[in-house]
Amino acid sequence: MAADFSHQSSSTKNDASTVAHRSSSAQSNTTMANMQNTVNELINPDRRGNALKVLSKRRDMFEELAPLLWNTACIATILLQEIISVYPAISSLQLTHAQSIRVCNVLALLQCLASHPETRMPFINANMPQYFYPFLQSTSKLPQFEYLRVASLGVIGALVKANTREVISFLLSSEVVPLCLQSMEIGKQLSKNVATYILQFFLANDEGLEYICATAERFFAVARVLELVLRSLEEEPCPRLLKLVISCYARLSNNHRAAVALVRCLPNTLKDATFSNDIRDDPATRRWMEKLHENIRRHQQQVPEQGGGSGVGDIGGS
Ligand code: TRP
Repeated sequence: MAADFSHQSSSTKNDASTVAHRSSSAQSNTTMANMQNTVNELINPDRRGNALKVLSKRRDMFEELAPLLWNTACIATILLQEIISVYPAISSLQLTHAQSIRVCNVLALLQCLASHPETRMPFINANMPQYFYPFLQSTSKLPQFEYLRVASLGVIGALVKANTREVISFLLSSEVVPLCLQSMEIGKQLSKNVATYILQFFLANDEGLEYICATAERFFAVARVLELVLRSLEEEPCPRLLKLVISCYARLSNNHRAAVALVRCLPNTLKDATFSNDIRDDPATRRWMEKLHENIRRHQQQVPEQGGGSGVGDIGGS
């Protein structure tokens, strides 16, 4: 950098910003070359493990890693190979910590591809998420499996954050919602958080809300798991997760049939003072809570006291 400046000032009359720009682009050229070298090392099976470690550690320091990975021949296939190679260990529950950490590094690179605007749609069009869904299908609570669960949810979280119609439609039709629900049910708090964050994104989207409220089975699957998470929060409080759960309920209550069902199945802990201390200083969550109660109150008047056709079983109609 210093050498650059003295050289520039003695030769031409470039202003400081041009010089600074040159020096930073020279620096990024070397990073680019370095990163390309490490990406190439993925091709060599003996160097792959180390390259995965290095790349996943540096992924936030190098913005252009995603296009570099995607545009280097063989890399996407190699990443998928790495994922597929642990399937037998997943189904036999023999996954070791070392295997899990290695695949988590792969998932970190997939998360890069999912986050970058240039690679996101090619990543989806190549159906890449389908390959790590088996990690979310596993019900093992062993830590090695929990790491994979969190890392896989991280990739989906990166996709939903883009919040475009194409991405949301793709994810809904790939049947990722039941996988999120399962992670909310059996995962530890971190995966519960990420999975609920994803569910909240789907519900916040009109197409997503419509999808989830389209059948009674879907609605009740979601309501059951939200209630389980809420119950887990009584024992192990987590303000962020509580906030997500309340906003999920509030969004559900915007759907007519869901609101009718919630008149009867909203958990008592959201009607009494159980969580009132937790949300006292959080105006956004208090507004969600008010909206939820307002929507339910509006439907309460329409629900007959007993029997009748507009009970919970009715959501989804025929
Ligand atoms: N094939 C199921 C469906 O479309 C997928 C599913 C299971 C699901 N449980 C869910 C979808 C809960 C949404 C919510 O209904």
